[in-house]
Amino acid sequence: MPQSELAVEARGLVKHFKSRRSVTRAVDGIDLDVPRGAVYSVLGPNGAGKTTAVRMLATLLRPDAGTARVLGHDVVQDADAVRTCVGLTGQYASVDEDLTGLENLVMLARLYGFKGARARRRCLDLLGAFGLEDAGGRQVKTYSGGMRRRIDLAASLVMSPEVLFLDEPTTGLDPRSRNQVWDIVRVLVADGATVLLTTQYLEEADQLADRIAVIDHGKVIAEGTAADLKRSVGRGAVELRVADTARRAEAIGIVGRVLGADATAAADPYGLSARVPEGSEHSVAQLLPALADAGITVPEFSLGQPSLDEVFLTLTGHTPDDAEGAGASRGPTTAGDDRETDDRAEVA
Ligand SMILES: Nc1ncnc2c1ncn2[C@@H]1O[C@H](COP(=O)(O)OP(=O)(O)OP(=O)(O)O)[C@@H](O)[C@H]1O
Ligand SMILES: [Mg+2]
Repeated sequence: MPQSELAVEARGLVKHFKSRRSVTRAVDGIDLDVPRGAVYSVLGPNGAGKTTAVRMLATLLRPDAGTARVLGHDVVQDADAVRTCVGLTGQYASVDEDLTGLENLVMLARLYGFKGARARRRCLDLLGAFGLEDAGGRQVKTYSGGMRRRIDLAASLVMSPEVLFLDEPTTGLDPRSRNQVWDIVRVLVADGATVLLTTQYLEEADQLADRIAVIDHGKVIAEGTAADLKRSVGRGAVELRVADTARRAEAIGIVGRVLGADATAAADPYGLSARVPEGSEHSVAQLLPALADAGITVPEFSLGQPSLDEVFLTLTGHTPDDAEGAGASRGPTTAGDDRETDDRAEVA
């Protein structure tokens, strides 16, 4: 088999979940090309199909249609070969709560063929790398969420996988723990691993990923670098806050008129934003004087590249947080009784 330039290559991947009442098209024809050595992010809201896609790539679920290769190995025909080169950290951590951090790692190391003192050394190294040397002797059920996520990551690295799938590695973490996980990902990639990371956080994709696939309702709706995606939305965006909420509607009118674009109210009752249309860059300088002429005080003003939130809004007509309202979300808690129970064995 020729060495593939791509770490992951998926074509037309499909997965349906059938229940008595309905069929969910969880993954509805996804193509992905993940270059070796890259961080590739699959970005999408709750229920978009991220976990299902990753589980197919990691050989835990069999696709209904389409093909996927990981380092040149077909995920169905050569599933064993795929399993030897991938690691997976699930959205729902898979370490054993009753064992200590060290015991969990040692158990995995033995499974992967590390023996005795070598297994223990490998695991102590990993605990050190993840800042868990002190916690290593405690049962995992006593860990905080951030420690829990780090031990889960460490567990997926016991065998130094060439391709690592991280399914929402930082969901629910505080900013400090999130940064620690990001640093770990950066080190892994600097050491040559390929990371495919799912996230609902636009900022996370922006920070880490070389390329991003935006998925919604089981389909890729945009693909490219963070800069590509931002460019597709426009030249940039202005965001401002007014001192008096009562004047916000008027400010929205003024901003819209000056820029020749629709300005919109932000969730924050003082905030508003507008995209700067191509060719209107020069008008931005007129915004503050126009607002001042109308007697509207503007304590905060910024001009920046559009955020990935705005990219999402442009592409889908809803922000990721709106997904629930747009009917996109059938999150794991509500899907419980419809879930398949077969072919969910964990990767060895
Ligand atoms: N085993 C299953 N049985 C039935 N339906 C499922 C199963 N797994 C996922 N689904 C459904 O498929 C869709 C995609 O789910 P998936 O878990 O892949 O989304 P996700 O993007 O990972 O979402 P989240 O961000 O909430 O983790 C959802 O509607 C979900 O309810
Ligand atoms: Mg998920």
